[in-house]
Amino acid sequence: MTPTVTMIGCGNMGGAVLLSWLDAGLATQCHFSVRLRDPAQYPSAAAYTERVAQHQLLYPGVPLCPDAATAFAADIIVLAVKPQVFRRRTWPAVNPHATVISLMAGISLREMQPRLPVRQIIRTMPNLGQRAGLGVTGLVTAGGPVADPLLTQLLTAGTRAWWLDTEPQLHHVIALSGSAPAYYFALADRLLARGEGSPESQLYALQQPQTSSLYDAIDHALLQLGTHWGYATDDLRPLIAQVRAGAAAYATTHLTKHPQNGFEHCWRSVMSPNGTTQAALGVLGLGPDATESPAGGALSRSLSERHTAVRAVMHAAALAAYDRSVTLEAGG
Ligand SMILES: NC(=O)c1ccc[n+]([C@@H]2O[C@H](COP(=O)([O-])OP(=O)(O)OC[C@H]3O[C@@H](n4cnc5c(N)ncnc54)[C@H](OP(=O)(O)O)[C@@H]3O)[C@@H](O)[C@H]2O)c1
Repeated sequence: MTPTVTMIGCGNMGGAVLLSWLDAGLATQCHFSVRLRDPAQYPSAAAYTERVAQHQLLYPGVPLCPDAATAFAADIIVLAVKPQVFRRRTWPAVNPHATVISLMAGISLREMQPRLPVRQIIRTMPNLGQRAGLGVTGLVTAGGPVADPLLTQLLTAGTRAWWLDTEPQLHHVIALSGSAPAYYFALADRLLARGEGSPESQLYALQQPQTSSLYDAIDHALLQLGTHWGYATDDLRPLIAQVRAGAAAYATTHLTKHPQNGFEHCWRSVMSPNGTTQAALGVLGLGPDATESPAGGALSRSLSERHTAVRAVMHAAALAAYDRSVTLEAGG
């Protein structure tokens, strides 16, 4: 029997993952489907019809699952809803033989296990670069290593897999890659707000690593934090390069399709309410958590001091994402 793979929720991140699976041709090996909110949860019938039409346009050939019970009977269940939705909702009985792949930040294996008594749960921390085949995904599993060939392909399509030894390391992955595309988008947004360059020139600088642009200061901040957490420089460099390349590719696609939306829409698509990216962006003076902007201060420095100042503020932003991740997982 062809295995069934159902994605629960399919927004920015779930959609990026699903597209990478479709691009990798995995639809020939399994039946994909998507479960969105119940039609009754949409503000109107017209809003639901519009959402269904949008889904069909974005993911042709991927049907919507008719009800939650069918969705949770799949062989592989992918949780791509916001953490607060997972916590708030009552979910139907789950197929005990299923494998669950969670994309959710802040929901531990221990929290999921009693609600999802399945064969195996894999926690992943992807990032939006996956939409362009340039993702970075932290992975940790309860129930031993992943040997199944289909699962392996699902976990690695369009992304660089970063297998972790322990679950708390996911907090590091969130700070260094899950939330990190937003740091690059935020810097571009702040520079443009100061009247520096054009969207095209900022995008060009973002696309060119190691050219001493301010975007390199973000790379340096992430490298410094990662080595502080004990990861080897040689392992971190390619991961950080991929995070930046993925952010650049995502922004390129986005700005080409929706030039009017600018970089703000890019950083908003990484941000969940009360989430890790929101905490980081707050340090950068953006979003609902915005504090008096140290980023603005960093950018006002003289050219010779700017790189160091931006590096310091990005370091603080990544640490804020880490801290929020730890707090969220503790139920905060
Ligand atoms: N965005 C990122 O960069 C990123 C990075 C790493 C991890 N994550 C994780 O990925 C998860 C999703 O984030 P996101 O940014 O993709 O959020 P999002 O764009 O808001 O998507 C959430 C999806 O969940 C759906 N949904 C809401 N309630 C539902 C329900 N009761 N049943 C089924 N589906 C429901 C929404 O349906 P509608 O489309 O109908 O509203 C939407 O498709 C989060 O847990 C987050 O921690 C995100």
